[in-house]
Order: sequence, then C-alpha cells, then structure tokens
Amino acid sequence: MIHFAYDQARPFIAAHELENIMPQADLARRTLEEGTGPGAEFTGWVDLPENYDRDEYARIVRAAEKIRSEGAVLVVIGIGGSYLGARAVIEALSHSFPALRKDAADNTQVLFCGHQLSGTYLTQLLEVLEGREVYLNVISKSGTTTEPAVAFRILREYVEKRYGEEEAAKRIYVTTDKAKGALKPLADEKGYETFVVPDEVGGRYSVLTAVGLLPIAAAGLDIQALLGGAKKERDRLRAFETKEDPAVLYAAVRNILYRKGYQVEIMVNYEPGLHYFTEWWKQLNGESEGKDQRGIFPAGVDNTTDLHSMGQYIQDGRRFLFETVVWVNEARADIAIPESDSDQDGLGYLAGRELQQVNEQAMKGTVLAHVDGGVPNLRIELDALNESELGALIYFCEKATAISGYMNAINPFDQEGVESYKKNMFALLGKPGFEETGENLRARLSNEENE
Ligand code: PA5
Repeated sequence: MIHFAYDQARPFIAAHELENIMPQADLARRTLEEGTGPGAEFTGWVDLPENYDRDEYARIVRAAEKIRSEGAVLVVIGIGGSYLGARAVIEALSHSFPALRKDAADNTQVLFCGHQLSGTYLTQLLEVLEGREVYLNVISKSGTTTEPAVAFRILREYVEKRYGEEEAAKRIYVTTDKAKGALKPLADEKGYETFVVPDEVGGRYSVLTAVGLLPIAAAGLDIQALLGGAKKERDRLRAFETKEDPAVLYAAVRNILYRKGYQVEIMVNYEPGLHYFTEWWKQLNGESEGKDQRGIFPAGVDNTTDLHSMGQYIQDGRRFLFETVVWVNEARADIAIPESDSDQDGLGYLAGRELQQVNEQAMKGTVLAHVDGGVPNLRIELDALNESELGALIYFCEKATAISGYMNAINPFDQEGVESYKKNMFALLGKPGFEETGENLRARLSNEENE
C-alpha cells in the first residue's frame, strides 16, 4: 500500500494553508473524476486498471510467451511516454546485473532504443544482437516521432535482412493508434501484429496499456499483478473524502510549497532500481505541468549516490527546492555487514546489521539535515518493491499529477511545447515544406557564430 506523509514539510506550512487550499483541491479532484476539465478526453487512464481490453491483454500475454520461449532479445523502440513506463517497471523489478547472472532461467532481455539520436548507441545495439534471436516492439502513438521512426527504419532493415521479410513480419510488434498515424497502414500492409494506444490515454499516462504491458510481460514480470495493484489503489483513493485522499494531499502540499517559491521538486530514491521510475515521474510531471510559464520543475536524485554529488547543493545552495522521498520498506534482497577482527574502518558498531537498516538511517538522517537546511520533505512509502506496489505507485502519481495540474489551472494532458524543437530540427535537416524556417534558423546560427 502507498503511504504519503508530509510531517517533515510542516515546519514550512501552517495548518490553515492546507485548510485554505482544500476547496481548490476538491474542485480539481471532482473535475478529474467527472471529466469536466481541459483535456478530459485524455483521462481514459483513470479507469484503465479495470476497463482494459481483455482480448488484447490475452494477445499481449501470448506474444510475451513466444518471445520468452525463445530466450530472445526484445528491442523496444519508443521515446517519452512510449518507453519510460516500461523501462521504469522493468528496471525496478529486474536483477541489477541481468546479463551476468549465472543462474538465469532464461535469456530473454528487453533492450530500449529510439529514445535519442545517437549513432554510437544504435551501432553498438546492432552488434550485440548478432547471434541472438530478435523481436521488435515499435511503440509510437503518432507513428511519426523522429527518434523512434529513425531507429525502426534501421532495426526493421536489420531483421528483414537477417530473417527475410516473411519471418521478420512475425517478429515485429507494433503498438500505435488504432487507425491514425504512419505505423498502422505499414503494419497492415506487412502483416505485423498490432496493439493499441487508446485514443483517450496520452503517452505519459499509458504504461498500463499495451505500451507498457508487452515489454513488461516480455521481461517476465506479472502484468496482472501490476494492473491489480493499480486498480486497488484507484479504489482505495476513491473511497477517501477529498481531504483524506493521499494523492490529493500530495497535490495540495506541493502546490502550497510551489506558491511559496519552492519551484523545484526533487524525487529521491534509495534503491538504484528506481532510477527509471524517477525518469518516468519527471516526464509525467514535466510534460503535464510545465506550461503557460508555470509549473514545478521535476528533478531527481539517486541516493545515497547523489549525496556525494548533489547533496551539497541540496543542503546549502539556493533555497527553492523541496524533496519527495520514495522509500521502500522491505528490501528485495539484503545482506549483513560482517564482523572484522581489526575494525580498521571503524565500522564495528555496524557489524551484523543489514544494509536496509543502514540505508534507512541514512535516509532519515538526510531528511532531517535537509529540513534543517530549509528543504521541505515529503515522503511516499511502499511496503515492498513488486508489481502490485508499483502498479499502485504509478496510479497514485498519475492521479496526484492530474489534480496538481488542475489546481495550477493548466491542461495536464497536452504537450504542445514539445513540437517547437521538432519544427526547428526538421527545418535544419532540410525537410520539404520547412525551407523558409530553415533559412531563418541558419542565419540566426551563423550570426551567433560570427559574434
Ligand atoms: O507523453 C507523451 O505524449 C509524449 O511523451 C509521447 O509519448 C512521446 O512524444 C512519443 O510520442 P509517440 O508515441 O507519438 O511517438
């Protein structure tokens, strides 16, 4: 179960502030639940853990079983909301060193590409695919996003050359819009199996659709438990009155802090496997809330690692930060610190203690130090790191983000700002139709070079 606590933010918030903001939070919650706000047509994720397509779910399970039965590599091609959710869940629940496990029951691996434009990365990916069975899952709602489209062209050519067109067609899964976009007609023409990004679910809210479920299932994880955890969380949150709903409280507290000048929220984890969960959350919040020259800037640190890089700034730098710690109560595996005869390192007092205990005290000590340094601290706790708890955490964060966005008077479900870089990139690359913009941009760049 997800627990939300803001006791370490209380020194920064008066009790009446929470009371005063609650009517706004209540309105935002009702706006979301009743589907009356901006972007309401993209709130299909609210009931998704219950209202998913059972036939498609069965096809996802079959495809994943096929990939796993061959111990193949599944290359997932997507960017933003079309890959971060799957990567977050897979990295949180997989072994830390998957490629080196001696006892690996199977060799199936899920690799990601199409989330940048690095030629080095794609060249090296093709190198490691040699000698392995390969499947592709290209995920793009629009089908026209440059990064995954470029990667898919390269990977499709690779599998077609390697297996022949007919066999390659059986190894390519396409997750895209049910009718629109560039991928659907191609999939129909070539006979690729397709899965749907539902119309009413935007990319960054889509991890519990085929977008996330196929890669996650191919990684050998329990997608039924993931959906079940999300459904349980949806029902649990819904049963609360607004002022008790933990997702609403989280949204309310972060808005109070934001309006007082705490403009950056740092998500903090103490488990390296949660690095990509933070990346997913950063996109969820950044794309949902950063508009109309407003919004909390979402950042992330992996502790205790980053206490030795970012810790100094968080403790002592400019005061516009607050933190949200994601803490897991039960470690997936643990190890005790051994006795040592010499005690040269002075760690004798820790002998016999397990690392989770040490990690927990590091977390608590850091929270108090940062609070003393002027950084309000919020905490989200999970009982354990498993599919069900992660499903719940995903739902909790999605709901809190949507409510927070409505409280901040923006549409949390569009992302028009993402288009600006694309127009410039197309123009600079000489895309037909963008000639004039290209000339203007090149002139601007050469002015800068000459200055
Ligand atoms: O959240 C979003 O909508 C975006 O991050 C998209 O997922 C991302 O831009 C990829 O788009 P597409 O799936 O159309 O390739």
